[in-house]
Amino acid sequence: MKPIRKAVFPVAGLGTRFLPATKAMPKEMLPIVDKPLIQYAVEEALAAGITELIFITGRNKRAIEDHFDRAPELESELQAKGKQALLDCVQTILPPHVHCIYTRQSQALGLGHAVLCAAPIVGNEPFAVLLADDLLDADIAVTRQLVDAAHQHNGSVLAIQEIDPRDSRKYGMVAGTPVDARNTRVDHIVEKPAPQDAPSNQAVVGRYVLEPEIFDFLRLTQAGVGQEIQLTDAISAMLTQRPVFAHRYQGERYDCGSKEGFFEATIALGQKYHGLQIPTK
Ligand code: UTP
Repeated sequence: MKPIRKAVFPVAGLGTRFLPATKAMPKEMLPIVDKPLIQYAVEEALAAGITELIFITGRNKRAIEDHFDRAPELESELQAKGKQALLDCVQTILPPHVHCIYTRQSQALGLGHAVLCAAPIVGNEPFAVLLADDLLDADIAVTRQLVDAAHQHNGSVLAIQEIDPRDSRKYGMVAGTPVDARNTRVDHIVEKPAPQDAPSNQAVVGRYVLEPEIFDFLRLTQAGVGQEIQLTDAISAMLTQRPVFAHRYQGERYDCGSKEGFFEATIALGQKYHGLQIPTK
C-alpha cells in the first residue's frame, strides 16, 4: 500500500445537538478545556505522519480556517507584551511542512457525500478520515494504529469499539472474521441498525483509513438512513471487491458530538492534562 499522507476532516455537519452554541460557530471549534475539538483531531493525524489536511467545510465554518492560519495582529501583540509561552502556543499549531486545503460541501447531504467532496484532492492514494467530534485519547494516536494496520493487512481499516447493544442505532455496526488479536476482516457492515438487526456489538467510531476505490462506490451510493448519503453504505458495497478490516484500537473515546460525552471529556482531560479539580465551595 502507498504511504498515507492525506487526511480528510468532514466538518460540514450542522451540529444541531449543540444548538444554540453552534448557530454561528462550528461544532468542531467547541473547546475541551483550551483546545478546539478539531485541533485534537489534527494533532492525532500529524502523529500518524499525515502532511496534507483536507477540510470539508460548509457555511459558518470560517473559524476553522482562521484557527489553522497565522494571526499576525495577535502574534505581534503577544510578542510586544513578552508573552512567549502563549506566542509559541499559537505559532506551533501546525508544523511548517503541513498543508491545509479547504473545500466546501454546499449542502449537508451526509458523511459519505462529504468524503466524496475530497475525491479530486485525494486522487489515487489511500487516505485517513477523522471525525473531530469523536475525541480519542490514546498513548499511540489511533490514526497511527489504523495506518499501521492498513500497511500490515493491505486494505482499508475502520476503528471499532464494543458498545452496549442497545446503542446500535447510533453507529455503523460490523461483523467478520478475526485475522489477529486486534483486526477482523469485515464481511458485513450496516448503518444504525435496530439492536435485533445488528450483526455484532462492534461499532465503527470516527476514524478510517480508506483505499481510493471508496470514491467509485460513493459515486454510486444513494441516500440511506436519515436520507443521508452514508459512508457505511459505500463501504458495504466495497466489501465484495476490496479487503476491509476493523481494528479494535487502544485508547479512550469521548463522543463529543453528544453533551454527555463532551462533558465527560472536559472533566477527564482537564484532570489528566491540566491537573484541574472541581473546586469545593
Ligand atoms: P454527525 O452525524 O455528528 O452530524 O456528523 P452533525 O451535523 O455534525 O451533528 P448533529 O447530529 O446535527 O448534532 C458526523 C461528522 O460528519 C460531518 C460532521 O461535521 C461530523 O464531523 N458531516 C456530516 C459532514 O461533514 N457533512 C454532512 O453532510 C454530514
